[in-house]
Order: sequence, then structure tokens, then C-alpha cells
Amino acid sequence: MKILVTGTEGYLGSLLAPELLRLGHELLAVDTGYYKAGWLYHGEGQTPRTLAKDLRHIEAADLEGIDAVVHMAELSNDPLGQLLPNITYDINHAGSVRLARLAKAAGVTRFVYMSSCSVYGAGGADVKDETSPVNPQTAYAECKVMVERDLLPLADDTFSPVFLRNATAFGASPRMRFDIVLNNLSGLAATQKQISMTSDGTPWRPLVHGLDIARAIICALTAPQENVHGQVFNVGSNEQNYRVREIAEVVAGAFPGCGLSFGEPGADTRSYRVNFDKIHSQLPGFRCEWNAERGAQQLAALFAQIGLTAEIFESRGFTRLKQLEYLLSTGQIDNDFYWRPLPVPAPAREGTPA
Ligand SMILES: NC(=O)c1ccc[n+]([C@@H]2O[C@H](COP(=O)([O-])OP(=O)(O)OC[C@H]3O[C@@H](n4cnc5c(N)ncnc54)[C@H](O)[C@@H]3O)[C@@H](O)[C@H]2O)c1
Repeated sequence: MKILVTGTEGYLGSLLAPELLRLGHELLAVDTGYYKAGWLYHGEGQTPRTLAKDLRHIEAADLEGIDAVVHMAELSNDPLGQLLPNITYDINHAGSVRLARLAKAAGVTRFVYMSSCSVYGAGGADVKDETSPVNPQTAYAECKVMVERDLLPLADDTFSPVFLRNATAFGASPRMRFDIVLNNLSGLAATQKQISMTSDGTPWRPLVHGLDIARAIICALTAPQENVHGQVFNVGSNEQNYRVREIAEVVAGAFPGCGLSFGEPGADTRSYRVNFDKIHSQLPGFRCEWNAERGAQQLAALFAQIGLTAEIFESRGFTRLKQLEYLLSTGQIDNDFYWRPLPVPAPAREGTPA
């Protein structure tokens, strides 16, 4: 299959792309490269040849001959969406809808969209399934809801959008993120030997390993059309609905000698428990091979192998918000998050030594 994948240089994209290549698919990888400063370890498999292009500049010609699209290139977390909501709507909502329309017009038959369980937001005590009302709490989550809403009407005999509402990811990736909960706590455990939570850790947060998300995407690409056409799938497993404090306990257990303390109830309203029955029954081949324990052990082994330091853990390359703030403050990207050209000095005058 010839697949256009956006966001291949991201945390999840750098796990998915080598897997697709290993399976013999032909890839057109697209990524504007915001996080090139972060590459934590060597990784496995091949990296794809990548078109360094903004999602908003993808043209019909880029989609010629493409069978399927996996769309992962968005601004990927909640705090960023709150700080600069307009740019989140511009890239995540408008950019995604434009790409899907272009893809459909170009004859692409399947469009796998990376949504998020964060659409359930302040979820209350109920366990959410794909039919539950959404309650997004942030611009990021609201954009996921808007993209799902606007892509569904594009579904017809020729075009099948599929919506993967992923739980919060964890685990090793060459393009690591330390701004997601299990990875962040593991980095603290490794570099400070102490996890001091400012909140009481009672909110629910379902988790799923990045490699299990990659498996879900591959299943969504290859499943019979009738299983996935216009369908929403929560991606994860029922056993991996954790309270944040349980995640902290699991992580502390994987890093011997790590202390753990909790604070007062926090202000964060995001808390949701999710039902994952549908993906297990309706998406042939999908299963989760990882849980929080195995993921924390994987990170403990990785950090020991690469000698993770506090400096690396805290560096901007591995925290999306820090890196984008840096690119903005140094003027490398403009307020619309387009790269600015390099300043070009005036040409040297004739006779000036080179
Ligand atoms: N990581 C998670 O926990 C999680 C959970 C649920 C859903 N998701 C979704 O999965 C997708 C991938 O997440 P991730 O964790 O790999 O994010 P990430 O930030 O690590 O990767 C996103 C990639 O997209 C690229 N990108 C961003 N804006 C772009 C643009 N305008 N044009 C071209 N490229 C652009 C970035 O350079 C980056 O390489 C996102 O849509 C995210 O919302 C992630």
C-alpha cells in the first residue's frame, strides 16, 4: 500500500514509520520538523525519506497515487493549546479538515485520524465508550471533536475516515516526549530519585503504549472496509484505566530507591475512564502487548543504557511546549508557526577577501 503519513518525526510517528516500512508499505512521510532537537536513542528499523513540509502546504500533487493517509501531525498537547489556542485551531482543526478533503478529491480511500480519549474531558464517574457524549476541556481536545465532526460527512463509498481515540501514550520512542505522564514520572524517578506529586493523583487517565497505538493504526489501515468505515475506536485496554497515583506507584516501583509523595486535590479537571471493548471486538488483530509496569521497566532499562541525566531529561527537545516556545522566542518560526527563512547577509563586494 502507498501511504502518506504526517508527523513521522514525532513521538508516535517515529515508532509507526519503521513498522510500516518493515511490513513492506511504501511511505510518503511529511513532517515540518519542529522537534528535530530531540532524538534520545538510536531506535530500530529504517526511518523514512521525509518531505519537510508544513501540513497546511500539502497539495493535491502530493496525494497522487496515495492509497491511504495516516494523519498524526498536529500540535500535540493540552497546555500548548491553552497558551495559543488560535494556532491550535489553525493547524489541528482547519489543517486536518483541509488535508482530508484534498485526500478524498485525490482518490485516497482510507484516512486514519489520530484523535484522543481527552475528548471525554471531565468524564465524571461513568466509563466512557464511543457513544458517550464528549466533554472537551481544552482547545486541543475541542479540535479533536471538531475534526471528527467535520470528517464524518466525507465518508462515502470511495472514502473511509477512521477515528482512533488514543489513550495517553507511554513508552520509549527515539523522538521521546517527557511531557506525558508515565514518561515524565519515569524521568523524575531516574534523575531525582523522587516523585513529588503536587496533586493527590486521583484523576483517571487511561494509558496505552506507543507500539500498541502503532498496531492499532496498522489494523485500521488493513481491516476490511465494513469494520472501520466512519468508525470511532477508543485505543487502549480496559485493564489500563489507571488513577494518576497508581501510575506514580508503578513507576516508583520500577526505579529502586525512588521516593514518592502526594499533594492536595489538583485544579486539573481532566479525568476519564474509558471502555475499550469495541476495538478488541471489531478491529481484527488488535491487542495491547504493554501495560504501565512493562512500560516503566522498559524506560528504566533505556535510561540506564543511555545514562539519562537531568540535563537531557529537562532539555527542550523532549517537551513540546518548551521547544515551540524556544522556536518562537528565537524567531525561527513566526506567530503562525511557519519557519522563517535564514537571514541572508548582503553579497560580498568584489575584491573583499573570501
Ligand atoms: N502522545 C499521546 O499521548 C497521544 C494521545 C492521543 C492522541 N495523540 C495524537 O497523536 C498524534 C501524534 O502525537 P505525538 O505524541 O507523536 O506528537 P508529537 O508532537 O511528538 O509529533 C507530532 C509531529 O507532527 C509534526 N507537526 C506538527 N505540526 C505540523 C505541521 N503544521 N505541519 C507538519 N508537521 C507538523 C511535528 O513536527 C511532530 O514531529 C497527534 O495528533 C496527537 O494529538 C497523541
